[in-house]
Amino acid sequence: MYAAAIIAMEVLLLFVTLLLAGHGACFAASSVDGFSVELIHRDSALSPFHEPALAPHARMPAAARRSLSSDNNSGVVSEIVSRSFEYLMSVNIGTPPTRMLAIADTGSDLIWVTCRNDTGNDLVEDDDDDDGSSSSRTVFDQSRSSTYAVVGCDSEACRPLSEASCDAGSHCQYQYAYGDGSHTAGLLSTETFTFLDATRAPNVSFGCSTRSAGTFRADGLVGLGGGALSLVSQIGAATSLGRKFSYCLVPYYSTNASSALSFGARAVVSDPGAASTPLVQSDVAAYYTVELEAVAIGDQQTVVAAKSSSTRIIVDSGTTLTFLDPALLGPLVGELERRVNLTRTRSPEQLLDLCYDVHGREETGWGIPDVTLRFGGGAAVTLRPLNTFTLVQEGTLCLAIVTVSEAQPMSILGNVAQQDLHVGYDLDARTVTFAPADCANSSPPS
Ligand SMILES: *[C@@H]1O[C@H](CO)[C@@H](O)[C@H](O)[C@H]1NC(C)=O
Ligand SMILES: *[C@@H]1O[C@H](CO)[C@@H](O)[C@H](O)[C@H]1NC(C)=O
Ligand SMILES: *[C@@H]1O[C@H](CO)[C@@H](O)[C@H](O)[C@H]1NC(C)=O
Ligand SMILES: *[C@@H]1O[C@H](CO)[C@@H](O)[C@H](O)[C@H]1NC(C)=O
Ligand SMILES: *[C@@H]1O[C@H](CO)[C@@H](O)[C@H](O)[C@H]1NC(C)=O
Repeated sequence: MYAAAIIAMEVLLLFVTLLLAGHGACFAASSVDGFSVELIHRDSALSPFHEPALAPHARMPAAARRSLSSDNNSGVVSEIVSRSFEYLMSVNIGTPPTRMLAIADTGSDLIWVTCRNDTGNDLVEDDDDDDGSSSSRTVFDQSRSSTYAVVGCDSEACRPLSEASCDAGSHCQYQYAYGDGSHTAGLLSTETFTFLDATRAPNVSFGCSTRSAGTFRADGLVGLGGGALSLVSQIGAATSLGRKFSYCLVPYYSTNASSALSFGARAVVSDPGAASTPLVQSDVAAYYTVELEAVAIGDQQTVVAAKSSSTRIIVDSGTTLTFLDPALLGPLVGELERRVNLTRTRSPEQLLDLCYDVHGREETGWGIPDVTLRFGGGAAVTLRPLNTFTLVQEGTLCLAIVTVSEAQPMSILGNVAQQDLHVGYDLDARTVTFAPADCANSSPPS
């Protein structure tokens, strides 16, 4: 009887194993149309990393400062533009799962989480926290997970990492740096990731970080870029969900709202007014690069065309401000100066150039025109005042678009410009799609 029970259990285990194997290198059956996770702003009341003392209007200058900061003295070569890491998603990693809140970043590929470092006493260095906040991070204890494995340095997965090397045990040891000087290092590993307790992804390659320094106010980072190691590429390679995802960024002032980051069929952006533009070849595999052909202001009578018919621009969730070529930005600023019915003022800390005093002024009288970006393939995306101007302190409204610089030479469509837009990325169709949306009231993840 005892033996029979053991055999029955083995049969059951075998059956479970076959079920899991039946789904291939797979996701749970509930995910045929894809899955969604919650996306929150790191300064939102929903984030454990938020600072209660930071008033909603103070978030923007804090984020702008992060966006403009760059550090060329870090000594670490980086191919990633300056990041400000504003949006977080939750991932459950390992068996049993550890819930971790990671930065969602479309401008890089590597997925990494803070792992246990016995010699470092689990101390996570954060030499550059701009506000001295001391939220404790969750550390993933790789030694307690039954599904954790390290990756050999001769493995295919190790190859896309430009700064990877073999450690003494022939494991893939990586170092990964971001444009602001932040960096992380550890062993490339594989683990089971679980999203919203339902969708399981076994054998996801990720960085088990035992050393990191910089501006990461999170337990890790999920790269959503176009390269092979990003979450979207790994999901595409392991499942039939395809290489696509979409998100909707709630406005900075919506303190408590979250929205969805979706994968698979439910990531398709087909809302009314959706406009798609083709991805173009990018120097860095991670970047979603599209062509910006012209900028139209207000009634579309004033159109500024890009100098050489088009200019390349990166669509990025991890950069706060929008960076444009002076040939496009100069005439745009000139036209805004003519139309905006407000008194000019100085930006605090001279962070931004075009600022207005809005003390006691009814918003209806500001006269800020819509700005339409015309992308390759005829896609027109309208930026409302919410997307172009931002309050940097009480009563001071500034243009959140700045010119590219030597430190930041790439044009970037940042996350202020993407608020209240549903943005879909599809690496199979090679498109980025934008549609106007009310992100705080769009359906939450289920
Ligand atoms: C960064 O590099 C630029 C251009 O080389 C230089 O002008 C700037 O002073 C440097 N900044 C720092 C903080 O070293
Ligand atoms: C553990 O942390 C210490 C202190 O930050 C660091 O010097 C060491 O290199 C880390 N160990 C590993 C294996 O990364
Ligand atoms: C898991 O991924 C690694 C690295 O990509 C690969 O070498 C290994 O064969 C995979 N294992 C399974 C069971 O799929
Ligand atoms: C946001 O949530 C916090 C904590 O739950 C609450 O105290 C606050 O009133 C909420 N704010 C808004 C605008 O709903
Ligand atoms: C410009 O602002 C003034 C002063 O508030 C207001 O009286 C006027 O109606 C505004 N004009 C427009 C076109 O909104």
